[in-house]
Amino acid sequence: MKYLQQMVAALAAVALLAPDVWARKTVIPVETEHTQLVLVAQESGVLQTLHFGAKISDPTAFEAFRTGRGTDNGEGPMAYPTVGGRYLGQPALHVKYADGYHNTELTYERHMVQRKGDIVTTEILLKDKVTLLEVTLVFDAYQKEDVICTHTEILNGGRKPAELLEYASGSLNLDADKYYLTHFHGGWADEMQMDGELLTHDTKVIESRRGTQVTQCNNPSFLVSLGTDRLQENSGEVVAGALAWSGNFRLSFEMDEAGRLNVLAGVNPFASTYKLSAGQTFTTPDFIYTFSCRGAGQASRNLHAWARNYGVYGGGQVNPTLLNSWEGAYFSFTTETLLRMIDDATSMGLEMFVLDDGWFAKDYPRNGDAAGLGDWELNTAKIPEGIDYVAAYAHAKGLKFGIWIEPEMVNPESNLAHNHPEWVVQSPGRELYQSRNQWVLDMSNPAVQDFVFGVFDNTMKLSKNIDYIKWDCNRTVANFGSTYLGTEQDRFYVDYAQGIYNVMRRLREKYPDVIVQCCSSGGGRVDYGALKYFNEIWTSDNTDALTRVFIQYATNLIYPACVMASHVSAVPNHQTGNMTPLKFRFDVACSGRLGMELQPKNLTAAERALADRCIRSYKQYRDLVFTGDVYRLASPYEGDYYALMYVSQDQSRAVVFTYCIKYQNRAVGTHVFRMDGLDPARRYKVTELNVDRSSWWGSGQSHAGDFLMNGGFNPVLLKTFDSGVFYLEAE
Ligand code: GLA
Repeated sequence: MKYLQQMVAALAAVALLAPDVWARKTVIPVETEHTQLVLVAQESGVLQTLHFGAKISDPTAFEAFRTGRGTDNGEGPMAYPTVGGRYLGQPALHVKYADGYHNTELTYERHMVQRKGDIVTTEILLKDKVTLLEVTLVFDAYQKEDVICTHTEILNGGRKPAELLEYASGSLNLDADKYYLTHFHGGWADEMQMDGELLTHDTKVIESRRGTQVTQCNNPSFLVSLGTDRLQENSGEVVAGALAWSGNFRLSFEMDEAGRLNVLAGVNPFASTYKLSAGQTFTTPDFIYTFSCRGAGQASRNLHAWARNYGVYGGGQVNPTLLNSWEGAYFSFTTETLLRMIDDATSMGLEMFVLDDGWFAKDYPRNGDAAGLGDWELNTAKIPEGIDYVAAYAHAKGLKFGIWIEPEMVNPESNLAHNHPEWVVQSPGRELYQSRNQWVLDMSNPAVQDFVFGVFDNTMKLSKNIDYIKWDCNRTVANFGSTYLGTEQDRFYVDYAQGIYNVMRRLREKYPDVIVQCCSSGGGRVDYGALKYFNEIWTSDNTDALTRVFIQYATNLIYPACVMASHVSAVPNHQTGNMTPLKFRFDVACSGRLGMELQPKNLTAAERALADRCIRSYKQYRDLVFTGDVYRLASPYEGDYYALMYVSQDQSRAVVFTYCIKYQNRAVGTHVFRMDGLDPARRYKVTELNVDRSSWWGSGQSHAGDFLMNGGFNPVLLKTFDSGVFYLEAE
């Protein structure tokens, strides 16, 4: 009945809409190869969204349909809703002017379209009807990747300051019968757990208020499945999005009375009213989104392609395998310990050694987590020969060398804390809470930014043989405040995040080729804002392979495998008691950027032989992990198996990972996985890796692509933690 009424209204509207009406409207399509966002500046000047989804050849027809579907607010979906006019929903923009009034009504002024290679940029200028506030909506449409990145520039053209109370990056209007929201939550060692719900009316908010390590609780990303009550991998319409911001963020999902969904993504306005002085412009972070008609799978592939080509520093480059000293040595090492670890890494075929925490501070030596943070000078009691000696040793063995820093933090037990108490994040008269025995440095202060730049820069100067920096950040903000900001404390959270970016911009100018990991306690800064400057993330401090299955599955829904650092550690590791077999641990770690994080000398000869084999075979296919398209074949969130594959862009090679995470029903026999993304007409030679004897009857033989995809394959996964890795090469 509802649809009948809508159709009648639509037909009436078509009849009423004479061509001259369209002449008074401005239709602005923002298009990629398969996607279309259609905006229209109405006669009144209001900019509305007509459509976001698969392409429609004549968007004006769509507008006629929409005319019959207003809301009590009197307006259709606003492209960038503000507090003001008749709009009463969640605003993207909320401004308080110097005279104390809150209303802004943006109207279309002009727009401009420019093409540069794969990217078509549309800039739409909107102006408030009364004040001199100007808002420019910028859309970068990545043609091949089917991704749109939007940000907003807010200019206070008036003579008096104005306050931005809310200032989202963008607003996305969706229209479907129902919306299933998938989002990611978690905590330390348990990050990026997939969660979901069917949205109901009113507003669902996903946010972070932690200041630092913002993504350890929630991630600024989501998938919305349209017209269905679950996230489907290979079918259905899915919109996936992410905010490129490493500070407090907020995503909101509001379903209005007409059943439309408005998604807002932006800086969290929590305690962050932004004062915009006369003539000043605030530029929001990017809101990145994509639309898929082929379920979550295609949405991920779109985001990953964009990330590799544009969104990740050094995206598309293959990064080295490594041995990290942390879980193998913690704070207890000497030069000798490190050299022997380098020897072992070399003999196992790894390509880099990373010296983790514990190498620095003299007066307050960093022999545990209670002292030394902030004093970035070599602890000569531990490594009298110097960092260059160790780094050069690694290089002489053919290994790269990396080193750990945590430049934004300070232990009270340090010279830095004594010399610069004013640099610590604090609020007068309030307790300076410690977490992991440390305080946060105030990155909103330019002097602290210079110091942090110096920590990286001076560490690099310790040796010309440093190839990799692991940048850590191990606590959140408490009693936020800055001695530098004075009465402008509202700026703290925004300026903190921008402070990191300022430093990273400078560092990238000076060190374009250094591989930099965004560690942040594992999973604490997993966002596309950080990834503009960092090559990879430390996916989680939890190296337990079973936990990693869930974390990596969910992380990879939004972020490409090339950024997921994934290490093999000892069992039980220090986060869980799971006794996963070494092969399972390797097979899980090999689906990301492979590393090891244990004391190699504790491995048995048989374990070392397996490690050698896994590392050697990883090098054969890792370009697929770094640059291939992902196809997920089974979700650990939905059953007892997990399987995924990466396929080369030309479909000539692929690698398939299969895991049993819980075996409970022998009657079922072996599970059948159907491959995806192959060329159905080609034949592929299938070889099982990481084993002596193959677990699939068809290994070592060639099979038609359509058989592998439509028939499937059933490797023997007959107990919990059985796993298999298969390499495919077209004949
Ligand atoms: C954090 C990191 C770890 C390790 C330790 C060192 O927990 O996530 O990988 O570097 O700090 O203190």
